[in-house]
Amino acid sequence: MAFPQTRMRRLRATPGLRDLVRETELRAGQLILPLFVSDTASTQPGGREPIATMPGVQRLSVDAAVEEAREAAALGVAGVMLFGVPAQKDEQGSGAWDEQGAVQLATRAIKQAVPELLVLTDVCLCEYTAHGHCGVLRDDGSVDNDASLQLLARTAVSHAAAGADMVAPSDMMDGRVAAIRAELDGDGFAETPILAYSAKFASAFYGPFREAAGSTPAFGDRRSYQMDYANGREAVREALLDWQEGADMVMVKPALAYGDVIAQVRRATRLPVAAYNVSGEYAMVKAAAAAGYIDERAAVLEILTSLRRAGADTIVTYHAKDAAQWLAHQT
Ligand code: PBG
Repeated sequence: MAFPQTRMRRLRATPGLRDLVRETELRAGQLILPLFVSDTASTQPGGREPIATMPGVQRLSVDAAVEEAREAAALGVAGVMLFGVPAQKDEQGSGAWDEQGAVQLATRAIKQAVPELLVLTDVCLCEYTAHGHCGVLRDDGSVDNDASLQLLARTAVSHAAAGADMVAPSDMMDGRVAAIRAELDGDGFAETPILAYSAKFASAFYGPFREAAGSTPAFGDRRSYQMDYANGREAVREALLDWQEGADMVMVKPALAYGDVIAQVRRATRLPVAAYNVSGEYAMVKAAAAAGYIDERAAVLEILTSLRRAGADTIVTYHAKDAAQWLAHQT
């Protein structure tokens, strides 16, 4: 018997064969586009304020956010995830549950203009607190977990009341999924699903986002509530806890350096799993592509497909519109 008997290359010989045995599919309908909606962007040309570290991404007025939503929907992108950039901040982050806040206004406007597009909202206090932490502070400067839960739940209800299709808590306080579920149910939003940022790691890859959202902590860091990137088993515990507390979907964030975590969470829960391809991951690709070091289209499709292969059902990505366009014109 001549070696090699098994020839892996047989099924790689033609596009038709490769297509036949491809294990993973990437569709625009699996992608969510994050949008930054700002109280002050309406004074900028076109209602758009560029973000230096995220080429192609802007802080948007409500009208510009509706435009983006229309474009995303036309390309078949599943939905948008809204982040607020408020003009005013305070100790409690009270802008987070303001009925006239940018997220609430944009949610109403997008659901009216493009009802078929999903609107997800990020539920957190860090964009709204003067100190930039994701919960309220005790006198000693530490983040008070239980005192933050009520405020987060109130924020989630204000998003649901504005018409959000799903709320996505990203604060990493313990017990927030149960607190949000109870408040939603009590206020008549029993049917609003929760996408929990279950395994959210303290990461250097959030840098550009914090510039975009103005949410860099004024002191210290987020390591007392976001996860240590050295830990995988703990990520599974977080996902299982959120499942128990009533999460409808769980998320792993960041994505690129966390394929193993996505795969573990995929196996450990029966819930749909999302991966968040974060701002720093986007910025790296954009910078390398602008320098001519990599082919942007090829790199983005490879990255997004790898997240699907790792086990993500849904991907939150700033590349969503580009990827949808490329997927529609694949050769
Ligand atoms: C808010 C929040 C952050 C991101 C999503 N929600 C920033 C952070 O935790 O510091 C990061 C998103 C990105 O980098 O694209 N808590």
